[in-house]
Amino acid sequence: MRKKIVAGNWKMNLDYMEGLSLFSEIVNMIGDEKKGDQTAVICAPFVHLYSIGKLAGGKVGVGAQNIHQNDSGAFTGEISAKMVKSAGADYVIIGHSERRQYFAETDELLLEKTKSALKNDLTPIFCVGETLDERNNGSYFEVLKKQLQNGLFSLNATDFDRIVIAYEPVWAIGTGLTASPEQAQEIHAFIRAEIAAAYGAGTAEETSILYGGSCNAGNAPQLFVQPDIDGGLIGGASLKSRDFTDIVKVFN
Ligand code: G3P
Repeated sequence: MRKKIVAGNWKMNLDYMEGLSLFSEIVNMIGDEKKGDQTAVICAPFVHLYSIGKLAGGKVGVGAQNIHQNDSGAFTGEISAKMVKSAGADYVIIGHSERRQYFAETDELLLEKTKSALKNDLTPIFCVGETLDERNNGSYFEVLKKQLQNGLFSLNATDFDRIVIAYEPVWAIGTGLTASPEQAQEIHAFIRAEIAAAYGAGTAEETSILYGGSCNAGNAPQLFVQPDIDGGLIGGASLKSRDFTDIVKVFN
């Protein structure tokens, strides 16, 4: 049974104390039934990781939002998978559209980052998604196929088994314009079919594919009931404990 995951991406929104306070609220609001399931994951800036890792108590997973592709070296300002793992994280978001857009991260670079995450025993949450122009001109299937092929599909089957994928239509991120359940399901089914073609039906069936893009407690039930949507990667709605935990509880 593939894992159901609701991950919160705090982005660059909370200082150290704000993040600790929010994380404590979330841990306290998630019932013990989630202990060990890790259906809830928080992807925080590096400044929070060590402390929230200590507070998690096994009820909530901890992740980073990015890593450098090297383990160490003269890369001022960068953070490695090795450092993230040592701070207590088990997940890392790779290839978020904001990293692709603002930091010119290519599929090839993201593949190197993914390999570094796997080498350091982090679960990559690998993001793919099309822009509004690509949605409107009908090239989105081609765009998604390229992101998967160049970013992931050269991994061997054993490594690929450890990947979580997040479909985040760029036009839905932070806009309040959520993909409809039908739109999201169509893409998730396409992604799963691409995985099946590359690695076989068994691997495809076991891969968790999350939806991200203005997902909230109001629309999560209609999205998460779709056969190929295995949870969400949540931005704005992860910054309030009630909003985020109400999304997690959709899977209860
Ligand atoms: O990584 C999740 C994020 O990009 C989605 O943001 O605010 O639309 O939920 P938001």
